[in-house]
Amino acid sequence: MIGGKRPVLKVIVIGDSGVGKSSFMNRYVNHRFSSAYRATIGTDFLSKEVNVDGNTVILQIWDTAGTERFQSLGTPLYRGAHCCMLVFDVTSRASFSALDGWRKEFLIQGEPQDPSEFPFIVLGNKTDMGNREVSGKLAQQWCEEIKAEYFEGSAKEDLNVEKPFLRAAQRGLQQYKKHTLENTGHFQITCKQPRETRNTCEC
Ligand code: GTP
Ligand code: MG
Repeated sequence: MIGGKRPVLKVIVIGDSGVGKSSFMNRYVNHRFSSAYRATIGTDFLSKEVNVDGNTVILQIWDTAGTERFQSLGTPLYRGAHCCMLVFDVTSRASFSALDGWRKEFLIQGEPQDPSEFPFIVLGNKTDMGNREVSGKLAQQWCEEIKAEYFEGSAKEDLNVEKPFLRAAQRGLQQYKKHTLENTGHFQITCKQPRETRNTCEC
């Protein structure tokens, strides 16, 4: 706990339709996977309590629609994010190329305070499939250019699903400490007075 409360870390998951954003989150939070495709309409979030370096935090993972016509809430949703996860499908070169646009859109609409330092996690999904179009090396190279961290895995096979979210939680917590605490004034107040001499102080 920080300042007597558990920080709520907002993680936005974006990327083209069908890359597996909902599937990956669902695997992580609910330990389930379905082969049926149901496009996300609008937006929703899943929450999970995570321990990050000794701090208990609530990861609030926001699922968004990759299809433009379902992005009904628009991008105000990006505001106040502590971390952004850019997802592509390793069997689709187009979904990888699209991430540059998704990232730019996030920076424009989300207006993070320090865009050059904002934490991005890039995730290549569907590594269980044979027809790969994007190599790990290529993805890694791009991540170095944009100062993002790269992970790849499979929602279907439950491969490497925890790691990217744990990293998002770590980076998100750093972001939270840097900005949210500063802005809301939620600093920890420590009561130095010994317990037995206290009468009204409840902190
Ligand atoms: P939108 O909501 O339209 O933006 O799509 P999305 O990115 O949320 O994709 P979704 O999670 O709905 O997955 C799309 C399809 O890909 C579904 O049929 C999933 O079952 C399938 N899928 C997701 N992850 C994997 C994976 O790791 N491997 C394989 N083989 N299929 C996957
Ligand atoms: Mg979805």
